[in-house]
Amino acid sequence: MENKNQVYIGTSLDGFIADENGGLEWLDMVPNPNNEDMGYYVFMDKIDALVMGRTTFETVIGFDVDWPYKKPVFVLSSSLGEIPNSHQGKAFLVNGTLEEVLEQIHSQGHHSLYIDGGKTIQGFLKEDLIDELIITVLPVLLGGGFPLFGSMKDKLEFELIESKVHLGQLVQLHYKRKRG
Ligand SMILES: NC(=O)c1ccc[n+]([C@@H]2O[C@H](COP(=O)([O-])OP(=O)(O)OC[C@H]3O[C@@H](n4cnc5c(N)ncnc54)[C@H](OP(=O)(O)O)[C@@H]3O)[C@@H](O)[C@H]2O)c1
Repeated sequence: MENKNQVYIGTSLDGFIADENGGLEWLDMVPNPNNEDMGYYVFMDKIDALVMGRTTFETVIGFDVDWPYKKPVFVLSSSLGEIPNSHQGKAFLVNGTLEEVLEQIHSQGHHSLYIDGGKTIQGFLKEDLIDELIITVLPVLLGGGFPLFGSMKDKLEFELIESKVHLGQLVQLHYKRKRG
């Protein structure tokens, strides 16, 4: 079974995924009267599980909505003692090196993974562990906040698979890691 780590994320023009206060309202800045999903559900159908940073996990459980995932969510954290009772059986705490974490997740039969959260994505990129990036760029400069990307030791090249314009305003870029 092929292992694959993918990112599907919305970012501001200046590369932030949340504003200074963790705010995400700007993700809905472009009217979407027909609730276009921009490929999200097709993407979600193809993955086996999510790997999410603690901050993103806490953001999602703080939303006043039902748990939005049908697939298991593995939460990366070295500070969280345990997953709250309300989310046990849906989310699972993992720690160790990314290599150990991935080994643990693969051994449970999950090979196609959705990697989510800024620091988490940065950690995976630092170890060249991201295979595909699907990035939706919104027409706003946030000026600061939680960055999607950070510094890396090595340059990583990607190849563009597809680009789409959604709602006349959002550009969705689908890149695949170019290896070798
Ligand atoms: N625009 C979008 O589409 C989108 C998507 C996802 C998230 N967001 C937003 O982006 C913000 C989250 O960003 P963030 O940069 O804080 O990142 P994050 O990846 O969600 O969370 C970072 C935390 O995850 C844990 N972590 C990450 N890598 C780890 C590793 N290798 N080992 C152990 N623990 C690890 C650490 O938790 P501990 O401190 O507990 O050790 C770290 O502090 C949130 O506001 C979220 O709502 C936006």
